[in-house]
Amino acid sequence: MSISPVFVLDLGSTKVVCLAASLTEKGDVRVEAFSQVGCRGVKQGVVHDVDATATAIDEAVSRVERSLGEAVDDLVVSIAGAHLQSVNAQGFVPIYPSSRQIRQDDVLSVINHSRQIVMPADREQIMAIPREFRIDGQRGVSKPIGMSGGRLEVVTHVVTGQSAKVSSVERAVTLAGRRVREMVPQPLATGLGVATMGQLEDGCVVVDIGGGTTDVAVFANGAIAYSGSVPVSSNHVTSDLSTLLKTSPDEAERLKTQFGACLSRVVSENERVEVKQTDQAEPRPMQRRVLCEIIESRMREIGTLVRRQIDMSGLNGQLPAGLLLTGGGSQMQAIDALFCEVLGVSKAAVVSPKVAGPHAKSVEVPTMSTSVGLARYCLESDEHEFAPVSGFTNWKEKIRTLRNPFNKKG
Ligand SMILES: Nc1ncnc2c1ncn2[C@@H]1O[C@H](COP(=O)(O)OP(=O)(O)OP(=O)(O)O)[C@@H](O)[C@H]1O
Ligand SMILES: [Mg+2]
Repeated sequence: MSISPVFVLDLGSTKVVCLAASLTEKGDVRVEAFSQVGCRGVKQGVVHDVDATATAIDEAVSRVERSLGEAVDDLVVSIAGAHLQSVNAQGFVPIYPSSRQIRQDDVLSVINHSRQIVMPADREQIMAIPREFRIDGQRGVSKPIGMSGGRLEVVTHVVTGQSAKVSSVERAVTLAGRRVREMVPQPLATGLGVATMGQLEDGCVVVDIGGGTTDVAVFANGAIAYSGSVPVSSNHVTSDLSTLLKTSPDEAERLKTQFGACLSRVVSENERVEVKQTDQAEPRPMQRRVLCEIIESRMREIGTLVRRQIDMSGLNGQLPAGLLLTGGGSQMQAIDALFCEVLGVSKAAVVSPKVAGPHAKSVEVPTMSTSVGLARYCLESDEHEFAPVSGFTNWKEKIRTLRNPFNKKG
C-alpha cells in the first residue's frame, strides 16, 4: 500500500487534469491538490499536438506544485483512444520440485509467460494485470505466494496500443519536463474511479462518455474482464448541433449543456429555446424537442457502439451491478433511460467519484472519474509484490495487481 501522495495526470480530449492524492486511514482516496487546464492537443483520446499537450501538462502540474510547495517529477498518466485493445491471456509454469511453496519469482515468470502474445510490429503492451491464478487446476486463487502446487497458471488482462500513439503521450510528458511513472488505460482508471468494491465483485460495466472518446470497461469477480474505447463521444453531439442548427460551436455547446436530453419524447412539444444562428442577427425560438432529436440520434449511435463493446466481452447479461455512466457527456437528462433501452439492461446510473479532503466538492463530478481512478489504481495496488526482483528501469516492465480484489480472497 502506498502512503505518500501519488501524482496523476489525465490527458482528456478537452482538458488535462493533474491530481495529488493519498489514502486516508479508512482507505479512501484523499485529494491533496488538483488542477484542470483546457487542452486542444488531444483528439479522440490521442495526443496529436505534442507541443500543445506539453504546455497544458506543464501548466497543470505547475499549479499542483505551487499548491503543495513541492516538485513533481514523475506521474501516472492515462492513455486512451480506439487504438487500445485488450486481451485476456493465459500463462503457466511448472513448479520444481513439485509441491514446494510458490515464490514471487514463480509468479513473475507465469505473468511474463502470459505476456508472450503475438502482436503486430507497430503495437506494444501498455500493461498486464493478473486477474486470476490457478494452482494445479484449482481456480480463483488471488494470492498464490506461499501456497504449494506443481503447476501455476494465470489469466492476465493485457492492454496493447499502437507504439506511435504511446510514444506521443510519453513525448508530451517529457517535453513538459516530467517523467511517466506508469501509463494506465483510461477505461480501467475510470472504472476504478467510480465503481465500489461490491460492484466490481458482482460484475458491472463502466461507460465514460468524454469529449472525444467513449470508454467501456467490464468488471467481473473483482477484476477487469474487458476494456475498449470508441471514437465517438459528446463533442460529436456538439458538432451535430452546430452543423444542423447552423450555430457557432459555443452556441451548440450552450444548447447541449443547458437544454439537452437524450430522449426527445421526455420533452414537451410546447417547450421553446432561443437559438443564435450564425446567419441571423437575432436569436430565433425553436422547439426544444428538435434539439433533443438531434442529440438522441447521436447518443443512440454511441449506445449501440457501447453495446457492441459489451458483447465483445462475452459477459453481456452477466453483470448484475448494471451500468455505471460517467464522464462529462453523461450529464444529460434521460441518459440512463436511453442506455437501458439501447443496451437492453434494467439498471443504469450516472455516477461520480467519491473522495476525501478539502477538494471533495470540486472533484466529485463525472469529469474527474478518470483522475480519481488513476490515483486509486496506484494507491490501492500492491506494486511491490509483483515488481520485478531485479528492479525496473522502465514503466513498461511494471506489473501491478488491483490490491482490493487480490487481498479479498485466496
Ligand atoms: N451538462 C452537460 N451535458 C452534456 N454534456 C456535457 C455537460 N457538461 C459537459 N459536457 C460535455 O462533456 C465533454 C467533456 O467531458 P470530459 O471532461 O469527461 O471529457 P475528456 O475527459 O476531456 O475527454 P475524453 O475522456 O473523451 O478524452 C464535452 O463534450 C462537454 O461538452
Ligand atoms: Mg476523459
